[in-house]
Amino acid sequence: MSKSGENYVIAIDGGSGTGKSTTAKIVAKTLGITYLDTGAMYRAVTLAALDAGLPAEDGPAMDNLLANLKLGFDAENHILINGVCRESEIRGMKVSSNVSVYCALPSVRAALTAQQREIGKKQSCILDGRDIGTVVFPDAKYKFFMVTDVKVRAERRYKELLEKGEKVTLEEVLENLVERDRLDSSRANAPLKKADDAIEIDTTHISIQQQVQKILDYVGVVA
Ligand code: DC
Repeated sequence: MSKSGENYVIAIDGGSGTGKSTTAKIVAKTLGITYLDTGAMYRAVTLAALDAGLPAEDGPAMDNLLANLKLGFDAENHILINGVCRESEIRGMKVSSNVSVYCALPSVRAALTAQQREIGKKQSCILDGRDIGTVVFPDAKYKFFMVTDVKVRAERRYKELLEKGEKVTLEEVLENLVERDRLDSSRANAPLKKADDAIEIDTTHISIQQQVQKILDYVGVVA
């Protein structure tokens, strides 16, 4: 809650590897508000569909999957799919290579957007994703859009995947990021796009701490 007693929303959008989620987590902790990783929700739907062997084109089966899927987060913000922690699987290359197809489905976007609005309405919240400032919360009090040189983003993701023991090359990670950005920005429904009133932060040459500070500088005075 802000000093005026009202709940508020902070929207952070941008491509993968721009530092959105790490930054959002620290800002949430500092301000004592809820953090919602909306990318994890799209990744979770993708993993559930892959588990069930469902192609994205099978509309009725996807509707059925969505109707029966319970998403949640544990205390460490790890994703729970029907009560089971699947955090490490949603971050792997298999999900990264398929998520842009599943997340473009209107049924998937409608279901997850509704859940995100429900959570963001109840409490002060920081959400990171692709369409938070444009579609999910177009009236968010604070909006940020993060951009980073794609090579720097690929190197960050590559390091994270190696640390998790995944066998992947830097070229594969770079290709996946470029392709995901292309698909996520060109889809008809809620594309990755800077809201007109969002503040752009270029994170290519700044640390996570500096990214956090930039956001707190905008928000902190009134939060
Ligand atoms: O932030 P991330 O890389 O974990 O997101 C995974 C994918 O989910 C990304 O390629 C696009 C999609 N996504 C989306 O379409 N809308 C959001 N609000 C968040 C993520």
